[in-house]
Amino acid sequence: MATPTYRVFDPLLPQPQADAMRRLCERFGTYGMYSQEASEAEIGQGLFQRHDAVMNFMKTGGRFGRQADPGALGARTNYFRESYAYGDRIAIDGIEPFLGYEGFVEAARAIHGRPVIEPAIVYANILLAGQELAVHTDVPEFRGANRTLYPQWLMVVMHHSGLFDAYRMPIATAVGWFNDCRGGAFAFYPDGREGACQTLPARANTGIILDTDSVFHGVDPVDGPPPPLRHGVQLVWDDGRWALRDGDRVVARYGWDEVRFSISWKAYCFADEAERRAWREHRDDLALDAILDRLVGDLRERGRIDGQRPEPTALALLLIDEYVRFPAADAAARVSA
Ligand SMILES: [Fe+2]
Repeated sequence: MATPTYRVFDPLLPQPQADAMRRLCERFGTYGMYSQEASEAEIGQGLFQRHDAVMNFMKTGGRFGRQADPGALGARTNYFRESYAYGDRIAIDGIEPFLGYEGFVEAARAIHGRPVIEPAIVYANILLAGQELAVHTDVPEFRGANRTLYPQWLMVVMHHSGLFDAYRMPIATAVGWFNDCRGGAFAFYPDGREGACQTLPARANTGIILDTDSVFHGVDPVDGPPPPLRHGVQLVWDDGRWALRDGDRVVARYGWDEVRFSISWKAYCFADEAERRAWREHRDDLALDAILDRLVGDLRERGRIDGQRPEPTALALLLIDEYVRFPAADAAARVSA
């Protein structure tokens, strides 16, 4: 994978604009839970969409090496997410300046060395007290292969294998924070999985941009006990506070300092207009059979498959095991946790 770089923004926006982002979050009002859904695809049926990250989290206890109680896993890691903009579709007025923010566009060019930047999505993540985000790399995208077509873990395997670089759509991801909370630092590995982990506190009106498809990253726990989550709960801005609603019932309330609110921005980074056209017009797309044949061929060369191709779920687990290598639990973080 290419050498990752990142840029920190501090401050991120002029103060009135930063304040407006928090008001926009309140105005949007209702946030649904973003949870790990099982994959429906034939390859790896029954695996989590992010089987790679979930299994690593359960095995290692995350960056702090705490042994996780599998029953509490959902409450700790199922946070809240809504999209504010998706391509040209604007879901809430006032997000346009963030979507087209020139500081992100210019930094995105620098990160991938690609001049043609197309902002694709802006979405909000809200973590409650007691929640965290397991270390992972984001779901990348390739010409002809993305998360709407195939399991997310397969996209991750493809990128980590390095076998499909010619088809990859480099994406730059920026994250901005617009409130102060206790805990919830952004933890990332800018020098690769064997390099040191760096942390950035989630402070109001700061941000970072990086290649989150390549750089492992996560969110340290937000201080406080895990929330009483059940399937279908919603987080609603209600009379100056956040209310966690289970149907008509409010099961918990949070002040702004007890939640972690971030806005993510993702943009495609093209080398030139011709590359953008090839992607838009689906010239030169990958297909699933070709992807799996290439991966299986590589596993044979690596001595991981001898004889018959394993059945789909066994193959999926083998692919994740062989290609997605996570950073070790952080010894320094473990001591201080
Ligand atoms: Fe991520």
